[in-house]
Amino acid sequence: MIRVFPDAEALSRAAAALFARAARRTVRNSGRFIVALSGGQTPRRTYERLACPECRDAVPWEAVHIFWGDERCVPFEDPRSNARMAHEALLRYVPIPAHQIHPIRCEGDPETAAARYEALLRSFFVEAPPRFDLILLGLGEDGHTASLFPFHPAVTEQRRWVAAVPEADPPRVTLTLPILNQARRVVFLVTGARKAGILREVLQEPPDPLRRPAQGVRPGPGRVLWLVDAAAASELLSP
Ligand code: 6PG
Repeated sequence: MIRVFPDAEALSRAAAALFARAARRTVRNSGRFIVALSGGQTPRRTYERLACPECRDAVPWEAVHIFWGDERCVPFEDPRSNARMAHEALLRYVPIPAHQIHPIRCEGDPETAAARYEALLRSFFVEAPPRFDLILLGLGEDGHTASLFPFHPAVTEQRRWVAAVPEADPPRVTLTLPILNQARRVVFLVTGARKAGILREVLQEPPDPLRRPAQGVRPGPGRVLWLVDAAAASELLSP
């Protein structure tokens, strides 16, 4: 399913409202809300909206557990860090217990970091593979999502839940498709005209996950939602 918004601001408002509704509903049903955040710049405004003074009480933060879909192997202080971006935009403003925030710590060898994060997931989740209540994802101009890049072995990884991407610059660690496809709900956030071409390919070309890893995210009917702005949707062929 896809929803098109006039601009990125409207999209961020809708994404924040969706996050809050899903959190309230899930906490009512299961007592906790387990989410994997996306990195990159697109979600920043959504995170900021979740943290705004009149918005932050809409989420039962005391029952939220934050993970990440991927991370760059840089220090937390590095502006490229996904954990730093989420902390700056959201996490430092909301009353989420610190032990419920689970960053992917990767300041050196991505393989070690991947193995460590996988061990954390295996100890945290009962199910195998882990089932997140919500995973937020972005879309790269080459069709990557999380840090699953075209033609990289991590895209076809079926056994491990967390993979290293040492070839990236900086090196990265990423959840793999078995986890992404286990999620109760996946929401892609895509904005900007520069994403228009790849968005059309991902949504309207035949699936080729190795070439366009975002096409590999298929958790099942009704469990993927694309929130896009008009600029990113500008090349979609109307049905
Ligand atoms: C990352 C993200 C990555 C991102 C896309 C889009 O760590 O970079 O997980 O998959 O979502 O590259 O990035 P922008 O939102 O910055 O366009």
